[in-house]
Amino acid sequence: MNKKFKNDINEGLSKLSKTLPSKYFYDKIGDALFVKIMNLPEYYLTKAEFDIFKNQTKNIISSLDIKPNTYFELIELGAGDGTKTKELLKVLLLENFQFEYLPVDISQNALDNLEANLNKELPKLKVTKKQGDYFSVLDSLKTSKHPKVVLFLGSNIGNMEDEKASRFITNLSNSLNTKGKILLGVDLIKAQDIVLPAYNDKAGVTKAFNLNLLHRINRELDANFSIKDFSHQPEYSEKEGIARSYIVSNIDQDVSIGALNKVFHFKKDEKIYTEISRKYNDLVLNEILKNSELKIVTKLLDAKGYFADYILIKT
Ligand code: AVI
Repeated sequence: MNKKFKNDINEGLSKLSKTLPSKYFYDKIGDALFVKIMNLPEYYLTKAEFDIFKNQTKNIISSLDIKPNTYFELIELGAGDGTKTKELLKVLLLENFQFEYLPVDISQNALDNLEANLNKELPKLKVTKKQGDYFSVLDSLKTSKHPKVVLFLGSNIGNMEDEKASRFITNLSNSLNTKGKILLGVDLIKAQDIVLPAYNDKAGVTKAFNLNLLHRINRELDANFSIKDFSHQPEYSEKEGIARSYIVSNIDQDVSIGALNKVFHFKKDEKIYTEISRKYNDLVLNEILKNSELKIVTKLLDAKGYFADYILIKT
């Protein structure tokens, strides 16, 4: 049993305002549910970023200021299935850029699947898989003096509280040499009637994704959460630009977690905070970049203006 998981669940549920970390959404079932989310009509984020990669590939390349005759490393943090990145890779290959693609992921399985797919679809591409946590991998790549471009897409940074995002970005900046670039994909602050449905889809997939956390605790920590007695509740403040997801207890209830030898009480309507999905604008991003040596070079938007890929340079 994963000790860190157990400790984090204990810590989160022992707080006065209960929390459960969203990083634990992603077990096998959670991964599959997230793939479904990305294909939901309400979940505009993936489609919007794909639109940028498909229709503004040349703009991406010129903003990254990479030269066809200079070898560079294209590093992707949390590569997923590479659908968006493939649009960029295709054009880079077609135009004879000299580069290697280094997808970084904690999951060896995800990397193996991605590599197999790329070998088939883009046989000329040089792929070097890097399994591990982002910063150990970036550290290990520091010895190479080739120019680097780091992709961090999908508004994954939005799942970090601002302070954490700022530390993350500063670490990322420290792992780059001067003129190193980051392509950062972020969801933009926009009206509630667009954002909220993306986290509360009609088919109930996001609900299942959020509540899977309780199933996971049942499975892995010998708990007895009665899932039907909890609801999924997303909230969004356009003023802050922050969406938050909660699990709400429908009734007064006790839940025992065997692995912790503990019983937790949930009051009727009590909320458990599970996930932040922060939305950005220039002001918010500049605040996050404040302690780093990164500057915004370009901001590329999708046709609807929902999503942005910012290109950042280390000064
Ligand atoms: C992975 N991440 C950017 C997603 C998001 O939009 O915050 C995770 C997600 N949570 C609910 N739906 C999707």
